[in-house]
Amino acid sequence: MPVESPAANGPLARRIPKTGEAIPAVGLGTWQVFDVASDAKEKAQARETLKVFAELDGRVIDSSPMYGSSESVTGELAAALGLKAKLFVATKVWTSGRQAGIRQMEDSMRKLRVERLDLMQVHNLVDAPTHLATLRDWKNAGDIDFVQVNYSLAEPEADRRLLAAAADSRTAVIVNRPFAEGAMFRRVRDKPLPAWAEGIGCASWAQFFLKWILGHPAVTCAIPGTRNPKHVADNLSSASGPLPDEAMRRRMSVYFESL
Ligand SMILES: NC(=O)c1ccc[n+]([C@@H]2O[C@H](COP(=O)([O-])OP(=O)(O)OC[C@H]3O[C@@H](n4cnc5c(N)ncnc54)[C@H](OP(=O)(O)O)[C@@H]3O)[C@@H](O)[C@H]2O)c1
Repeated sequence: MPVESPAANGPLARRIPKTGEAIPAVGLGTWQVFDVASDAKEKAQARETLKVFAELDGRVIDSSPMYGSSESVTGELAAALGLKAKLFVATKVWTSGRQAGIRQMEDSMRKLRVERLDLMQVHNLVDAPTHLATLRDWKNAGDIDFVQVNYSLAEPEADRRLLAAAADSRTAVIVNRPFAEGAMFRRVRDKPLPAWAEGIGCASWAQFFLKWILGHPAVTCAIPGTRNPKHVADNLSSASGPLPDEAMRRRMSVYFESL
């Protein structure tokens, strides 16, 4: 997959193989962290996180009707911050049946306050053939552009077959759970980064984990979830500077396994 050369200090971007559009390689997940409609303090944190995300050139934001109020909070905050034109909005359909799917996808667009979605995914492949037929009608094109899968140092199974198959079929890959829902931070708590991590531009464990993911050429975009503005800046930093090559990725994996 062609890798965009980052501009002077700009973040790494990768092309969606079938459309040619380049998107920043680190996005933002909203599961739990943006499901905050009923809590003013948490909503303010989400607003600040989204603001910092956009200021640092983040664009890809991932939601789902399964994530409670996350879609409507994302739509409300993006509108309030004037970001609607800037974001690459991805959500999912998570129901059975053609009409139910259409209703849910239309509902998602209303909640996210967009006239069109940049990416619609079938959550956990629930009734995928039905929804793919609808989406093909809507898109008037014949193929799948993206898959979304969990992939991390703690859950590396996707690189057995799926990532290579995606690259072969020119399918873009969104990586979810890049920190195994945060469990990876508990594993490295109180443990310093190895000295050699500096050589690949890692100043934090989050950057170590994300750079390992972005070092796989089949990965288009990783979407760490956070409602913490400092964490979103930390995560976006991983899309700048050097990326590990295959030998370095192996070294990182061996090191992580030893912890
Ligand atoms: N989990 C799934 O099964 C699943 C399935 C489908 C899609 N997705 C999508 O993928 C996204 C990402 O997955 P995820 O949210 O489940 O897990 P994740 O991104 O692997 O981990 C999220 C956790 O990491 C913490 N975190 C984030 N950045 C950090 C940093 N720089 N330093 C320290 N801690 C940090 C967050 O806490 P703070 O808020 O404190 O930063 C949060 O607890 C979801 O939000 C969703 O959009 C997930």
